Amino acid sequence: MQLNTGARIPILGHGTWKMSVTDAYQSTLHALTKAGYRHVDTAFAYQNEQGVGRAVRESEIPRDQIFVTTKLPPSKQGYEIALQTFNESLSELGLEYVDLYLIHWPGVVKLPENSPEHSKLRAQSWKALEKIHADGKAKAIGVSNYTVNHLKELMSQSQVVPAVNQIEFHPLLFAQQRDVLEFCKQHNIVVEAYSPLASGSSKLLELEELKEIASECNKTPAQVLIRWCIQHGTVVLPKSTHSERIDSNADAMRFQLSEKHMHQLDTLHERAGSFRSCWNPEGIL
Ligand code: A2P
Repeated sequence: MQLNTGARIPILGHGTWKMSVTDAYQSTLHALTKAGYRHVDTAFAYQNEQGVGRAVRESEIPRDQIFVTTKLPPSKQGYEIALQTFNESLSELGLEYVDLYLIHWPGVVKLPENSPEHSKLRAQSWKALEKIHADGKAKAIGVSNYTVNHLKELMSQSQVVPAVNQIEFHPLLFAQQRDVLEFCKQHNIVVEAYSPLASGSSKLLELEELKEIASECNKTPAQVLIRWCIQHGTVVLPKSTHSERIDSNADAMRFQLSEKHMHQLDTLHERAGSFRSCWNPEGIL
């Protein structure tokens, strides 16, 4: 897939949220050297950049063939502190540059949801990301967990359109995320799907209807969910610490869901109910 910077982004990425440094190192090394992944996603807030960077360096894959993303945490919003935190991330990763740097969350920790400070500080952070991009230290910049309103605000303040918006995306959140998916498509912003398996929740993975679809396709429920994201045009970031799952999740690149199954998954939330496994940014002013 192509970003609005012209750079290519591999559709499948290895997610590392909640992983220790050791798990992030081992799983990323496996994903890169054994399972064919060329994209890994971490964040300052995950506290595992060291493990991810070590795997990237030890993989012996040329650096320009691996797409590395990290993120500015909600505790470090602001201009100077964002520049400083980015340098700390680079040093933890042990890399010269990242392919993508994201504002992790539209808000700032410890402020009430309706505080006007969120907006002021994330605008300052974006200025810092523009500088990091202009300096060539992040090949592309973007955001995460932004609603349509947050995106509209950013685009009214800056000439630089985010390359990416990374959001929670799976069938049980489809109703809530449809607008943001549509808006991003219109504005050439790539949507990245995090927690495509709803963070492994049985509320999604154990649904009989999903299991039936998987069995009709001769695939696992996880492969079906990852494929559903891909057919909605998103980049997808499943995460696993288990080698077999890292391998089998990648097989989602190699099959097609029928229109009937896509429709069934699109409407799954109507029968199974909505479910969000992570932060809800809708209240952040
Ligand atoms: P584990 O690390 O033990 O493999 P998401 O990508 O939606 O955030 O989901 C991540 C969670 O889903 C992790 O707990 C991970 O557990 C689990 N998981 C990853 N791949 C699979 C799979 N193929 N089948 C079942 N669970 C999976």
